[in-house]
This record gives sequence, C-alpha cells and structure tokens, in this order.
Amino acid sequence: MIGMFDSGVGGLSVLGELRRLHPRLDVLYLADSAHAPYGQCSLTEVAELSHRNVGWLLAQGADVIAIACNTASAAALNDLRRVHPGVSFVGMEPAVKPARAYTRSGVIGVLATDATFQGELFASVVGRFADGVEIVARSCPGWADLVEAGKVAGPEVEAAIAMHLDPVLEAGADTLVLGCTHYPFLLPVLHHLAGAQVVIVDPAPAVARQIGRLATGRGSGRIRIRTTGDAVQVQTTMRRLTGWDEQVSAIT
Ligand code: DGL
Repeated sequence: MIGMFDSGVGGLSVLGELRRLHPRLDVLYLADSAHAPYGQCSLTEVAELSHRNVGWLLAQGADVIAIACNTASAAALNDLRRVHPGVSFVGMEPAVKPARAYTRSGVIGVLATDATFQGELFASVVGRFADGVEIVARSCPGWADLVEAGKVAGPEVEAAIAMHLDPVLEAGADTLVLGCTHYPFLLPVLHHLAGAQVVIVDPAPAVARQIGRLATGRGSGRIRIRTTGDAVQVQTTMRRLTGWDEQVSAIT
C-alpha cells in the first residue's frame, strides 16, 4: 500500500496523476491540515511533522512512502531515508531538469515555498541541472492557502497570483516550474496570466510514474483520505478541486 502525505490538499495533485496512471493501486493519503501551511514553518518544524506523518503511515501498513510535498521533501527526505532504510521513498524536487529542455530565453522561474528554497535539496537541484540557465526563484506565500480554501479562480486569486508571477515574467522567464504540489490546482489561472508562450512544468506525472514503479502488489484501487485537521473542510475542498467523493476522516 502507498502511504502519501502533504501539508493539506496539495498532494491530491500527485494522487490524481497516480489514480489516472495506476488506478488499481491502494493509497492512504494523509493531509496534515492541522499544521498547514508548511511553507511558512522552519525546516526543523517541517522535518518533525514529516517524521510524525511517516511514522503514522508506516504503522497503518504503508510500504512505499510518497512525500507529495516539496517543502517536506526539502526538510526531511534524506533523513527519512536514513531512519527507515527498508522503506521506499519518493519525494518531490523542483523540475529544473525538464524545464531546461523547454526554455528558449534561458530564464526559468521556479515557484515554491520559502522553506523549499532554504533546503539543501533546491541548492543541489540548481547545482546539478541549472548549468547555463538563469533561475529566478520566487516564493509565493498565500497561494497554498488559497488552494486550501478551495479558491482557484476569480479576481482575488488572479491578483494574488499576479503579485508573484509578474516579477518572474518580467525577469524574462519563459518556462515556469511548479515547485509546490498545491500549485497545479492554479494552472488555469497561471496559464491565463502567463500566456500561451510560457511553458509550465508540473512534476506530478513523473512522480506518479516513479511511485508506480516502486509499488508492490496489484491492489484494488482503494483510496483512503485522512486528515489531522477538519475532515468536513478537507472533504469540501477536495470535492471542489477534484470532484472526488471519497469520505475524509480525521485522525487524532
Ligand atoms: N504542498 C506543499 C509543497 O509542495 C506545501 C505548501 C504549504 O503547506 O505551504 O511545498
């Protein structure tokens, strides 16, 4: 069984791809909504929360852990692998590598949380894949909160997106990397504001393929969604974002 977590509903963008590509996999998804957003926390705090989430998922029987959160991956992926050597982990990292193949201007905008940019993982991605291109790293406080509130369209959303997107476009970026799993839910607004000539890279399909490669057994397509926060609120937002009607339950 796949255990997956995020600070909230953002990781459902990854789960959506996983369901599309591997509809028979069993997945237990934990939305740590009581502690969202992670992006404004320190890396130490996010690492502690990540260890707790993984401990819970393993106790429920997960044998593959998908960290459907860039911030948690930045804060804890290496340490989680060290602490649980027998467990397969899949994490998120900003997709600078594929973005390099798309850019013509040589300027790539990376949109993520503050905490993600502070982690060693981002520095290592830039070191490995950004040779010969300019990276414009922009943290986008407020975007994940909009998605958590189920707000992904309308004037308020467009204004909040433009505030962080415009400076990146003005810096010459013609390719944008979504470095936070909440942001794919903002894709229609991002495409609308950025224009058709800008390529937007969402790493979710590649991550879902990797999870599929590591999955053991065939499963029966059972999807369970749990939250540390308010189950009714998570369920309402999930329905609005994805149209899914799975029951969401709270854990203590
Ligand atoms: N979805 C998360 C990420 O990929 C975190 C957003 C947040 O909680 O700030 O970084």
